[in-house]
Parts: sequence; C-alpha cells; structure tokens
Amino acid sequence: MNILAIESSCDETAAAICRNGREVLSDVVLSQADMHAVYGGVVPEIASRRHVEAVGGLAEQALAEAGLRREEIDAVAVTYAPGLIGALLVGVNFAKAASYGLGVPLIPVHHVRGHIAAGYIAFPELEPPFLSLAISGGNTLLVDVRDYTDMHIVGASRDDAAGECFDKVARVLGLGYPGGAAMDRLARGGDDSRYALPRAKVEDAELDMSFSGLKTAAINLIHNARQKGETLDEASFAASFTKAVSEVLVPRAVEAARMLGRRTVVAGGGVAANSRIREDLTRAAAENGFQLFLPPTALCGDNAAMIGCQGYYEYIAGKRAGMDLNAYATLDI
Ligand code: KG4
Repeated sequence: MNILAIESSCDETAAAICRNGREVLSDVVLSQADMHAVYGGVVPEIASRRHVEAVGGLAEQALAEAGLRREEIDAVAVTYAPGLIGALLVGVNFAKAASYGLGVPLIPVHHVRGHIAAGYIAFPELEPPFLSLAISGGNTLLVDVRDYTDMHIVGASRDDAAGECFDKVARVLGLGYPGGAAMDRLARGGDDSRYALPRAKVEDAELDMSFSGLKTAAINLIHNARQKGETLDEASFAASFTKAVSEVLVPRAVEAARMLGRRTVVAGGGVAANSRIREDLTRAAAENGFQLFLPPTALCGDNAAMIGCQGYYEYIAGKRAGMDLNAYATLDI
C-alpha cells in the first residue's frame, strides 16, 4: 500500500511516500528555519504562507523521487494535530484535495504518533508494546505504546516542552533559532558540573515534568553574568543546562518503563537527537536492562515519512477522515 504523507505542523513542510508502514520510498523536507531565525522563533503566519507555497511542489517531488505515478497512490495521510493551527490547516487542506482528486482514502495522523512511528522506520524489528519518550519542540511526553494505535500518555511536561526550553535558552545565548542542535555542539567541550541549575519535580505526579523553572533560571544566570561583566563559560553552561534537562527526562523514562513493566524504550522527536540525552539513555538502558531504540537523528526531527508510516497503521485500524476533517492545535494522543 503506497501512502502519500503530508506534514506541516510547525516550520517544516514535508512530503513522503511510504509503503506498508515500514518502507520509505521518498522523504522530502523543506525547513523554514532560516526564515524564522531573524525573529528568534517561529512566526505562525509566515509558517502558514510558506507551507502554502511549498506543499504542492514537495508532494510532486516525493512522487517523482519514489518513481510512482499518481494512480499508484492508495491513500493520503496527513498530520492534523497538534501544532500551529494555520500551518496544520495548509497540510490538511492539501491532503483533502489530494485524496479527493485521486479518489483515495484520507487518513488523519496525530503528530506525536508520527514521532513514535519514526522508530518503526529505523528498526524493522521494533513492535509494540514499548515505552516512548517523545521529546520535541512542542511536546514532552512519556507514552505507553500498547499497540500501533493504542497509546496512553503516562507523563508529560506541565509547562514548556524540552525543545522549547533549549530554543529559548539558546536564543538568549545568541545561538540563533532553533538552538537545540547548536547547544548540543557547544556543550560537548564543557564541564557539566560548573553551573548549578534546578531540576523540578511535580508533586504527586512523579512521571510529569516541568521545564519553565529551569528555563528561567538558565536565562537569569546568563543575564546576571552579563550584568556583572563576568565571562560566561558558554560550553560549560550548555553542558550544565543539557545535563539538567537530561536528568529530568531520563530517570522518568526509566521509572515509567519500570512501572509499566515495559522492557523496550524508544525515543523520538527533535530533542532525541541530543547527544548527551542519547548517551544518558544508553547508559540507563544498560543499567536497567531494557532495550533502547534511538532512531537516527534525521528521523528525530519533523518529517512526513513518520506520518506515512503511522498512517498505514491508522488505516489498518480503520481510521478515515472525510472532507470535513479539521486541524487541532492541541489534541490528546
Ligand atoms: O521534532 P521537531 O523537529 O519539531 C517538533 O515536532 O517540535 O523538534 C524540534 C526541536 C527544537 O526545539 C530543536 O531545538 C530541538 O528539537 N533539537 C534539539 C537538537 N536537535 C533539535 N535539541 C537538543 N539537542 C539537539 N541536538
């Protein structure tokens, strides 16, 4: 089954062709990051307009790279939630038109379910059940993946997503947008115990997380150093900050897996590209005896292949949308 998949939930326009949920025939991603960098973050209206300009050409490119004709597409899958509402609507409306025009089913896909499905692309042997640590610019979730379409959130950030926290702190450091990858590179040469930063606990919800206090403390530390004319050891600051994020995420993933009795943990989302977090997860897996799947970094960020992959399993489970499909800025998984 060949699925044309469309993703436009934030600042990447993406199209892909996937076969039977596991095989990626083509995968094209157009990042708008450069257009938003000048503003220090994503400007929703600019994102929507750029998606409008890009989506048709990218879908054609995905078809061409897959070596398929339009008649060979069996279904269209699209991210319909969560994300920037205007950005999502562009993809949803394009997908509706494509499904109507081609006379094939339309499959709505939750963006975080897509991040989870990236693991199926990277690891053919991976099957549910497992625990997913889905960490991106908009979401920080621990998800019990009981089956391909049966999932439950068992832990979540109560405020900022981990990626948002990386981006805001990186912006104040002057690393540009999005700053997660730049923080990662900067942190490599640093001393992670040089700066004291807080790790918050959510009372009576041990799997939930909070990053806004860490974000504020990190930003205040930078401002205070500047006001006092002190030189911030940026590499050590980035390393201390990343350690703090990792020490919130990794123990909760371990605890969630233990509580649920899951022996497999899968990471996904843009922040799962972070080298320190990957190292800490790898160590935790070895210490706690669970199998860890870390998709390659290219599959961690937003892409449409993961939407096409999850779309296949949604299709098998009978999920279809009509021409009245709407987009949602927030939606439970
Ligand atoms: O999954 P993604 O591309 O988009 C969303 O679905 O949100 O994630 C983007 C986020 C951004 O916040 C970006 O700074 C962060 O992932 N990110 C990283 C790294 N690479 C991307 N954060 C930390 N370390 C990285 N290496």
